[in-house]
Amino acid sequence: ATSGTAKAPVTVTVTGAAGQIGYALLFRIASGQLLGADTPVRLRLLEIPQGVKAAEGTAMELDDCAFPLLRSIDIADDPRVGFEGANVALLVGARPRTAGMERGDLLEANGGIFKPQGEAINAVAADDVRVLVVGNPANTNALIAASHAPDVPAERFTAMTRLDHNRALSQLAQKTGAGVADIQGLTIWGNHSATQYPDVFHATVAGRPATELVDETWLAETFIPTVAKRGAAIIEARGASSAASAANAAVDHVRDWVLGTPEGTWTSAAIPSDGSYGVPEGLISSFPVTSTGGRWEIVQGLDVNEFSRQRIDASITELVEEREAVRGLGLV
Ligand code: NAD
Ligand code: LMR
Repeated sequence: ATSGTAKAPVTVTVTGAAGQIGYALLFRIASGQLLGADTPVRLRLLEIPQGVKAAEGTAMELDDCAFPLLRSIDIADDPRVGFEGANVALLVGARPRTAGMERGDLLEANGGIFKPQGEAINAVAADDVRVLVVGNPANTNALIAASHAPDVPAERFTAMTRLDHNRALSQLAQKTGAGVADIQGLTIWGNHSATQYPDVFHATVAGRPATELVDETWLAETFIPTVAKRGAAIIEARGASSAASAANAAVDHVRDWVLGTPEGTWTSAAIPSDGSYGVPEGLISSFPVTSTGGRWEIVQGLDVNEFSRQRIDASITELVEEREAVRGLGLV
């Protein structure tokens, strides 16, 4: 069918397509919310063999939505097929931590997923491929995938802290009685884990410095732990980890990366460090970022006070430890 749209179709691969984030994500991509109402989409769903049947069911429902922008849906259980021609790759499927599993076991199990996926992206994805890792531990999974894709520029591998950013926006808006759209200059630093640091020291709320509206006790005792432990609180309340909000954040991240961030503010994304703010080069860590021309850039020149420095350093230390652990396993 022709639609009169001028743009070429974009191929989007989603791994873990039959999972709960996949289910919340695919319909938004196919409806045009990821890349805009003028960009046709070809979806490629990557699953493990046990997930293929459920992915086929989701594909039937995608057909039944009759989305005008959706050009094709292909389902694969082989990464070399699933990433074929991918311009955007959303790496959602991961090995969740189960009872009795140590962190090292978790990193090793995920290495078994993200190493072959990195290799496949290197071999068969489009030259302009942009990768967002959602599956946990997201930053280190992204590092593993990137290190097995030597022909893809490292900056194309990112991990998701946009959900943390959105959580922080919402908490600060509720505390100050403002709307989320009135808040600018929030940052998530570090790892997508409980050590992450949501920083309001450069934020404004309807033009006023956030620090005039909230005090350090609220930041230290309420805001930071609420944002950092929100994932666990959702699991506790829902009996399953966040899904629609995670999918929403993935849409926000990719849309801003491809189409650019709005003027006058920044967002948060975990991208390979260039050494800015004392974060060791190459670590995939969350920073304040803007996007123009399809590239993330770290916002430079922000003062980092002692309160922030300690918390950023704690999260960086954890990321360095994760990197050491996967190095020890020969995964990077
Ligand atoms: P889920 O268990 O519902 O779905 C995961 C899917 O991935 C399953 O269908 C599984 O078959 C598939 N899968 C497993 N290994 C795969 C592989 N090698 N290739 C392709 N598919 C594979 O989980 P979910 O709720 O959708 O969450 C997915 C991941 O996202 C988890 O790791 C979760 O912790 C993480 N997560 C991250 C954030 C974030 O902010 N970064 C937020 C929420 C959840
Ligand atoms: C979240 O932040 O909601 C998830 O990363 C939590 C999890 O462990 O899946």
